[in-house]
Amino acid sequence: MISPHMTFITLLCVPTVVAVGTIFGGLLRSTSRKAQAQIEKTTAVADEAVSNIRTVRAFGMEDQEKELFDAEAVLAMILNENLGFGIGWFQAGTNLFLNGMVLITLYMGGYLLSTDKLSPGELMAYLMASQTIQRSLGQLSMLFGSVVRGVAAGSRIFEYMNLQPTMALRGGKIISENNLKGDIEFNNVTFAYPTRQQQYVLKNFNLKIPSGKTLAIVGASGNGKSTVVALIERFYDVNCGAITLDGHDIKTLDPSWLRQRVLGLISQEPILFGTSIVENIRYGRPGASDEEVKEAAKLANAHDFISNFPQGYDTMVGERGVTLSGGQKQRIAIARALLKNPTVLLLDEATSALDTESEKVVQNALENAKKGRTVVVIAHRLSTIQNADIIVVLNKGAIVEMGTHEELTRKRGYYWSLTYQQQEVPAG
Ligand SMILES: Nc1ncnc2c1ncn2[C@@H]1O[C@H](COP(=O)(O)OP(=O)(O)OP(=O)(O)O)[C@@H](O)[C@H]1O
Ligand SMILES: [Mg+2]
Repeated sequence: MISPHMTFITLLCVPTVVAVGTIFGGLLRSTSRKAQAQIEKTTAVADEAVSNIRTVRAFGMEDQEKELFDAEAVLAMILNENLGFGIGWFQAGTNLFLNGMVLITLYMGGYLLSTDKLSPGELMAYLMASQTIQRSLGQLSMLFGSVVRGVAAGSRIFEYMNLQPTMALRGGKIISENNLKGDIEFNNVTFAYPTRQQQYVLKNFNLKIPSGKTLAIVGASGNGKSTVVALIERFYDVNCGAITLDGHDIKTLDPSWLRQRVLGLISQEPILFGTSIVENIRYGRPGASDEEVKEAAKLANAHDFISNFPQGYDTMVGERGVTLSGGQKQRIAIARALLKNPTVLLLDEATSALDTESEKVVQNALENAKKGRTVVVIAHRLSTIQNADIIVVLNKGAIVEMGTHEELTRKRGYYWSLTYQQQEVPAG
């Protein structure tokens, strides 16, 4: 209102400024995203090296890991420097423009004054008003730098938050306690891991695991044994065919109920959490009392060694259980699974060669664990599964032999040759 003439000229510049600002802002945002991703990569390298420090040390790879980290850190530095320069130039440009506007106002105002179209008071008032606006815009451009960084970091977070799980965690049928038997069946199952679609791990796979029986799966490494267990746990969905529990396709069952109530898993590499032993065992059933935890530990042959620790059940196990031996970790993992009292026990025997003494202890623990349940045991040591009700020999994702230990030994086929390979040659 003070001077429509000058306002008009000032406003003329706005579209150009908005256009330039948008293009430049877009560039800065993409640089910021790249810088953010690079920092993520750098942190991952450091994280991996530090958490696997024993492996790094054992292979004397400290220098290489440091170089790897340096290379990633330098990239992150360059990207962040570029971003800093970009933001700097953006702010410089904005300030130059805004101050330029003051100059133009003074110049125009001087001209209008000399032609008596504007009074000195009006010019002062116009200057004051336009400077207030200019300062506010200057502040905004400073803010812009923080916004660019924030948006890039936020978009990474929202990417994860907006991810839709391919498999819901809850929802589906639940079999009532009385009807739950624990019969598992694979019907013509074909499966390939999503990351390796063209390599079928199981092809037209059929298997019946009757309730209350122990079924052992044997076969050379990489033949799909652990995959069978992962599919029962429904970590992945099968490509074709179906897996059923008591006649119900497990895809129609509530996954959380299935994992919490029906299945107990002792995996090939038992993973513990960096807390106390009692909390690690209670992980199997969060509501369990101290007494129940102790009972489970006794069943798993773990009570004695736990009691021998100065702090007993409150002993902290360290990150992922580093302060325990392999056999101790396994027995805690067994106790954890037993506390659940699962209908079906899935047991992926660790390959880690325990000495004969501890193997016997773990073996006894497992014998206790098997009572009254459906058990699927993946055996690497054939000596441990001779009592299994059914032994299945897997080769390249297909069953090549099936029967009891006696039947298969008599047959002199795959199983026989596997046991033959594992027989110890007497010394001397
Ligand atoms: N997450 C995965 N993504 C892609 N391929 C995988 C994955 N896990 C396993 N595989 C592949 O699937 C095949 C079967 O693996 P699986 O772990 O079932 O073998 P396994 O019989 O348990 O072997 P081992 O006796 O060594 O434990 C292998 O060829 C393996 O490379
Ligand atoms: Mg395996």
